[in-house]
Amino acid sequence: MSRPGKTKFQIDLRRHLREHYVEENLIHLISEIAEASKYIIHSISTGDLGVAGTSNLYGEQQLALDVLADRILRKRLDHSRVVANMMSEEMDEIIPVSPDCGGKYSVAFDPLDGSSLVDVNLAVGTIVSIFQGCDLLQPGRKQVAALYILYGPRTTLVYSVGKGVHEFGMNMLREYTLLQENITIKPQGDLYSPGGQRNLYTPGVEAFISKLEQRGVKLRYSGGFVPDINQILLKGEGIFFYPHLQGKPEGKLRVLFELNPMAFLIEQAGGAASDGRKPILDLQPQQIHERSPVFIGCKKDVALAEELIRQLESDKDVTAKKKGKT
Ligand code: AHG
Ligand code: MN
Ligand code: MN
Repeated sequence: MSRPGKTKFQIDLRRHLREHYVEENLIHLISEIAEASKYIIHSISTGDLGVAGTSNLYGEQQLALDVLADRILRKRLDHSRVVANMMSEEMDEIIPVSPDCGGKYSVAFDPLDGSSLVDVNLAVGTIVSIFQGCDLLQPGRKQVAALYILYGPRTTLVYSVGKGVHEFGMNMLREYTLLQENITIKPQGDLYSPGGQRNLYTPGVEAFISKLEQRGVKLRYSGGFVPDINQILLKGEGIFFYPHLQGKPEGKLRVLFELNPMAFLIEQAGGAASDGRKPILDLQPQQIHERSPVFIGCKKDVALAEELIRQLESDKDVTAKKKGKT
């Protein structure tokens, strides 16, 4: 995109979306989510780090910040006039906002991913997945947009509407201005982020991590999905995996509001995202809080993981386990 006059650093989010001919209601929606992030930043820096005294559908204790961030985003989406349905990690079911789907979008979001890291002052984020119309249980490949906001030493926003991946930074005026466009990642990398307990790794995953370590790949794992994925995107290399584990065949991360949006962004940057056998974006979720194992990042590394799982873990094993109790 040639930019006579204005340097790219003065391009704000709304203008960038317009330059990419994004539909007006979607521009409004993404801008509203960006606006909401300002209030989430405020709640992180001033909010109560304690527990909310409630727990979410997973039985996980909700932190006051989880609930606060959820409420901030929910209110914004409720009043945006462009949302049909929404759901989040903190909600038990889909919340209908408007009965008609025409010209509207449905949103799945993780209001504060890695929230338990706030009290040790590590980076956390908000993850958002956007579909056209009313249906949130579609394969992730049908998303029309995905974005995350990373609350780290700097606050940055990364989005894609299917036309590349672009990063914005929050300036002194609390506006998001363009930092870099069309981010891409290499076919193979030198970083790895291994999630889950290694003593519960299955044979294929154990062989995969041993191959990476023999290659001298550097371990980078913060425990926050957003900074860990952001590192892969901005370093242009790496692989994150939270695999199926012995006794936990579904892994940990949720399809609708963690894996689908990040898989969309990583594929847009030339990477891959798999459940160990097939692309995350081709999964047909059966229920809104579905989990899946994930291998996401450099294409060749994802393919290596799939190859070793195919060789060392029969389909029967994995599918039988998948039917097991999570
Ligand atoms: P959330 O805080 O939204 O529940 O997500 C936390 C997730 C994700 O951020 C991270 O990749 C993963 O939990 C880390 O899990 P472990 O603590 O088991 O490594
Ligand atoms: Mn999360
Ligand atoms: Mn969360």
